[in-house]
Amino acid sequence: MHDANIFPAYRGTMEYACLGCGKRLPMDELHYTCPACKGVFLLENLKFSDLAETSPEEWRERFDARAASKRPALRGIFRFYELMAPVLEEDDIIYLGEGNTPIIPAAPALTRRLGATFAFKNDGQNPSASFKDRGMACAFSYLKALVRKHGWDEVLTVCASTGDTSAAAALYAAYVGEPIRSVVILPKGKVTPQQLSQPLGSGAVVLEVPGVFDDCMKVVEYLAEHYRVALLNSKNAWRILGQESYAFECAQWYDWDLAGKSIFVPVGNAGNITAIMAGLLKLHDLGIIDELPRLVGVQSEHADPVFRYYAQTDPALREYHPVKVTPSVAQAAMIGNPVSFPRVKLLAERYIDKGGEFAVVEVTEQAIMDAMLEANRHGHIACTQGGECLAGLLRARELGLLGPKDFAVLDATAHALKFADFQTMYFSNSFPPEYEVTPRRELANHPEPVISEAERQRAGESGFARAAAVAVAKRLDLKSLH
Ligand code: F0G
Repeated sequence: MHDANIFPAYRGTMEYACLGCGKRLPMDELHYTCPACKGVFLLENLKFSDLAETSPEEWRERFDARAASKRPALRGIFRFYELMAPVLEEDDIIYLGEGNTPIIPAAPALTRRLGATFAFKNDGQNPSASFKDRGMACAFSYLKALVRKHGWDEVLTVCASTGDTSAAAALYAAYVGEPIRSVVILPKGKVTPQQLSQPLGSGAVVLEVPGVFDDCMKVVEYLAEHYRVALLNSKNAWRILGQESYAFECAQWYDWDLAGKSIFVPVGNAGNITAIMAGLLKLHDLGIIDELPRLVGVQSEHADPVFRYYAQTDPALREYHPVKVTPSVAQAAMIGNPVSFPRVKLLAERYIDKGGEFAVVEVTEQAIMDAMLEANRHGHIACTQGGECLAGLLRARELGLLGPKDFAVLDATAHALKFADFQTMYFSNSFPPEYEVTPRRELANHPEPVISEAERQRAGESGFARAAAVAVAKRLDLKSLH
């Protein structure tokens, strides 16, 4: 029997591998883009093949046993330590309760209504209320290891963000404390008030830039090239490793059998879909899963460079072009030039080679809002990007990519509360025209006053409860007991 309370002894050797020119760099420093060709990196474990000496059954048992581990370092994403960043020491690992998020089957009435069988994986139930915590737990654990090794006395972490990366980065930085300080760079007016409150509350330096995320990304890239800062965007390949845990958890929840299932992921900067693909490929390489699930990326019509690339069915004719984004309710994914596009391209080829199906679908803003509200009226907690996933499932069905009986897991990447203002705009029919959203009346909901202040005064202290209750009863058409 595997002892789930023992921290693993296995250690790998990680190297940065450039996807542009193949250059390799050792892992003892932070690298973001290749010094030779400016390409992006993925981290590879040179001793990955050693893991194949352990049988798939043994891996499955080990990970299952660890699901009950009492060791904080193994409670979160590092349940899958050997598959992710097996170079970290236990003391470096930061655990704030990330990962292990619930998979909630669609409410029966929603399944009937949409004629689709699916579940949401609620990544909004992470500590900063989005999936970004998975990547940050890994990136900050690595940063802690670097600080320990080099004895640094000041580390400034920087990220550009549509709101969630900054919330996560600021949270983990605040927890680690000295010598780490967090700076986040946000597109002014293009993150929600809830998202903005998060780095402010964590005590980060919050800097605003006019423009959209893609503009902030350029600023951050310039900073990383010219100054000594630690970049926490998904150019930082340690974040990708942490986000692979999403794929491992999906597989584990379905007893390591993803055959015939589909996983839907909203695509913005394309870090998440990269990580999920990389994670699934690792499971498949080690025989921990026998078959790869169908993987479907979803983009809005208002920010769709990855969709456009794959819309060309002949791979030889595909061309990647950044797009200029227009306002999107899936604001966290409103990105015209995704940093991880080269990673998606490479991994999707490998994925298909290994027998996996990979597709990207596009949805309207209207479909995103309608899907999110439908889901949440049935007891889910999807954000707009989660709504985008559900809209994507319906679109994929229309396109015949999957049938009514095919089961899908939808990534609800953040908590609904972060995007409450889009719900308000829908309910009050106040979307600016660029969004192209016309509310469906039956989905709108408003608070209703019960009695007026004047009526309350008239009823007095003693008569108030009765007057208000009678007004409620009238509104609800309640039958009297007497
Ligand atoms: N969903 C949410 C809630 C997000 O915050 C993001 C990205 C995405 C989906 C898209 O994921 O970028 O990995 O393809 N948010 C980043 C940020 C860009 O800055 O918070 P992706």
